[in-house]
Amino acid sequence: MNAMAAVELHMDPHAQFIYELALAHLELRALGVLSEPNATLRLFRAGRPVDPEKLARRAAYIVAIDRVQTVYARLRQYNRTASVNQYLSHWFYPYKGKFHPQMVRALLNIMQLEPGNTVLDPFIGSGTTALEAQLLGIRCIGVDISPVCTLVARVKTDSWRVLERVLAYRDQYEVIARAAEKAGVRLHLPAEEISDDDRVWNFFKVAELIAHSDRARRDRPFIESHVANIKRMAISTQDMLDARAALGLHFGTADIRQGDARNLPLETGSVDGIVTSPPYAVTLDYIENDAHALRALGYNPLTIRENFIGVRGNRRDRMDLYLDDMRRCCTEMYRVLRAGCWLTLIIGNGTSEARAFDLPALSIDMCSAAGFEYVRTIEKPMRGRYGDSNAESILMFIKPPMGTVQVR
Ligand SMILES: C[S@@+](CC[C@H](N)C(=O)[O-])C[C@H]1O[C@@H](n2cnc3c(N)ncnc32)[C@H](O)[C@@H]1O
Repeated sequence: MNAMAAVELHMDPHAQFIYELALAHLELRALGVLSEPNATLRLFRAGRPVDPEKLARRAAYIVAIDRVQTVYARLRQYNRTASVNQYLSHWFYPYKGKFHPQMVRALLNIMQLEPGNTVLDPFIGSGTTALEAQLLGIRCIGVDISPVCTLVARVKTDSWRVLERVLAYRDQYEVIARAAEKAGVRLHLPAEEISDDDRVWNFFKVAELIAHSDRARRDRPFIESHVANIKRMAISTQDMLDARAALGLHFGTADIRQGDARNLPLETGSVDGIVTSPPYAVTLDYIENDAHALRALGYNPLTIRENFIGVRGNRRDRMDLYLDDMRRCCTEMYRVLRAGCWLTLIIGNGTSEARAFDLPALSIDMCSAAGFEYVRTIEKPMRGRYGDSNAESILMFIKPPMGTVQVR
């Protein structure tokens, strides 16, 4: 290595796990940097990067290059929460089983997705992939069966476009919400009374859902929490605009659709990458978990279960149904992905009827049977452990380029 041309790349001091070091190493390689960590594993020494500007703009786990902060290190400072990961609008709605945003950013780099490309997350959940893709200028299509998830994901990625209108309606909305609370009636107002733009209405709706969750989980008074959430969400949405201007970002579009991952509403070969995390078998009951929010949106949690993967069927046949559903999802993901592109699947272990299932191994089998070529696994401990699942695997596959023969 030429000492004159070498640069020092500083690893994120918040990184604590081996998988983060592995992702840092892989993303540096994908960004055209050949590097070696020093003995502390906190500093990488590298030859002059092929494209230093791109490295500074995209890296997730490197916070400084020769002591100059990267874009991500600065972006993360637009944070109104106590958690280092919940910057910008990531904190909107306390969804269980959210992705780690920094991991998603690194994966988008490793998969070499560029502005103008489209990434798909067929289990978009609370929208982490959509927001991280947006910050990198990548288009995201997010699909989820849950109306709570599609609403939250849209609000996280769209509200900056309508913040002025949200602020213009805020006082009027607060008066109506307080009056409904005083009269003891459910807050229900036709969208036209608020704005002719759904995105404005959706913003207030998510603030209401957070308040329902605050009341259900922390016993907080509903109206005070609702009004406070609107204020906090508006501040974080302003942060999106400020970060975009200060860091010269070009936001990608997020196209969030309510739909079924077993039957994707997409053309064959139409996406350039997939990052996703399906339900971990029957480990977490997403319907029960979001029952208060589903009810607030007018859904009956008992009747909506039919198409939710992992909660369908009775206790005995649930695991078989889960595996059948996941086989269909793997085939669909294979169909919609362009040849030569990456699929990254994050999945933990699962248990059903006191029996442990090695979901990562089963997922490798199902994806391989669908036609994917398995490339690697990165093991990851799970923070905020729930159920019996305490480890996750990041599984990476490629859809073989056209004309290649697969040997299995
Ligand atoms: C592990 S969570 C995804 C969490 C997400 N990565 C995030 O950061 O919030 C799995 C998601 O799969 C969704 N889901 C369940 N059945 C589905 C189906 N048939 N089609 C699409 N999504 C489904 C659930 O609603 C849930 O949001």
